Amino acid sequence: RIAGPSGLVIFGVTGDLSRKKLMPAVYDLANRGLLPPGFSLIGFARREWEHQDFAQIVHDSVREHARTPFRKEVWRQLSEGMRFVPGDFGDDEAFKKLRETVDELDVTRGTSGNYAFYLSVPPKFFPQVVRQLKKHGLSDAPEGSWRRAVIEKPFGHDLASAKELNQVVHEVFPPDQVFRIDHYLGKETVQNILALRFANQMFEPIWNRSFVDHVQITMAEDIGIGGRAGYYDGIGSARDVIQNHLLQLLALTAMEEPSAFNAESLVTEKLKVLKAATLPADLGRHTVRGQYSAGSQGGEQVIGYLDEDGIDPASKTDTYAAIKLGIDNRRWAGVPFYLRTGKRLGRRVTEIAVVLQRAPHSPFDSTATEELGQNAIVIRVQPDEGVTVRFGSKVPGTSMEIRDVTMDFAYGESFTEESPEAYERLILDVLLGDANLFPRTEEVEESWKILDPIEEYWQKHGRLAHYPAGSWGPVEADQMLAQDGRSWRRP
Ligand code: BG6
Repeated sequence: RIAGPSGLVIFGVTGDLSRKKLMPAVYDLANRGLLPPGFSLIGFARREWEHQDFAQIVHDSVREHARTPFRKEVWRQLSEGMRFVPGDFGDDEAFKKLRETVDELDVTRGTSGNYAFYLSVPPKFFPQVVRQLKKHGLSDAPEGSWRRAVIEKPFGHDLASAKELNQVVHEVFPPDQVFRIDHYLGKETVQNILALRFANQMFEPIWNRSFVDHVQITMAEDIGIGGRAGYYDGIGSARDVIQNHLLQLLALTAMEEPSAFNAESLVTEKLKVLKAATLPADLGRHTVRGQYSAGSQGGEQVIGYLDEDGIDPASKTDTYAAIKLGIDNRRWAGVPFYLRTGKRLGRRVTEIAVVLQRAPHSPFDSTATEELGQNAIVIRVQPDEGVTVRFGSKVPGTSMEIRDVTMDFAYGESFTEESPEAYERLILDVLLGDANLFPRTEEVEESWKILDPIEEYWQKHGRLAHYPAGSWGPVEADQMLAQDGRSWRRP
């Protein structure tokens, strides 16, 4: 899978995402031989830069963040196709210049009119940028070529704003040319959920309410909010990652088998699950929101959220959220899905644990199984990528004692192939027009329908729990599971 003649225009090229992820991903793709020789990269931002200044910025970011080794020859070829267009989003002259640059690259680099416009900018600028693209004839693909828009989350902050954004973008780009980035879908381990479930015979027969007790989806981060106050404060953890990453993980874990491995079939099945998701009647008992206070993490004292730079000292923003969902269909009726996320937790880990019911009967006396937990299949999304199956085994010795053991698959041990970074995979897919790993408008809107009532409830009843940095979240979250006779896993 190698991209054909094409170019990428990045709006918001001075931002963090661009520097840490997008530019290095472009270089890594080039280095792996997955980009066409004439590939072109255009940066657009309000800076007085020349093309060389931009190339230097890309160079520095590649040197710092790229995954693959620096090779002069690859860099030379790539940098010859780099251009910079200075200006702000309201500036017609700048968009004219952008148009000329695209036309010039079509001739000098053979990009064939194929361009993706990556809006790595806050969503409030989406309408202006897409309208400018339209006005200056950049969004209309010349005969035989394509023009695509790539947009980054947050796709709105609730259903209404998401609908507005979708509408504006679709006024300019047809739905099948809009690629929404949820970078979790670009992760190798997330793509493996479908392989695990649907390419094998051993998991699917037990993947339902007859065998599964509950599912826990955890996305824990050790980092705090450092440097992102402007984006995060007022948004909070649930909007930041539950609405997108965690609900996508839930959809992939719970969906039915798609009739084919293509975007259409995947969306159809994911949507069915999202539509079947139900909230508990008593949101006060079955959701928790929290905020970190000062604490100790990895042996270091760290400050609390309210003391972070740029955070309103009276902020009620959640940095931790736990919610319980049901899925009202034949496969999952009665099986709770617990989702949790937080900043400044014990360690960075994302996993999906499918926890099975206990054996319906045990021929062993109860002391033999005192240390036996519930069987579980754990998809380790990151950082220690793999799958763990937990089950009970006899402890060697003269008496019958059964204890939990695990069987582990680790990417690092089973494969010599390296996993591409999520953004590499997704940028390549945009250039190839492969939409499998991109959430559609309807999915985004369905996800907001799940989260909106929770956010509204929190807004009204405003109970905010606190947890010390470095811990595993507020005690209220432990109580939330304890009342169901369950407990969170300690990854
Ligand atoms: C982003 C969130 O989408 O995902 C961040 O906005 C979060 O708050 C990040 O830190 C986590 O991504 P990853 O790939 O490091 O798990």
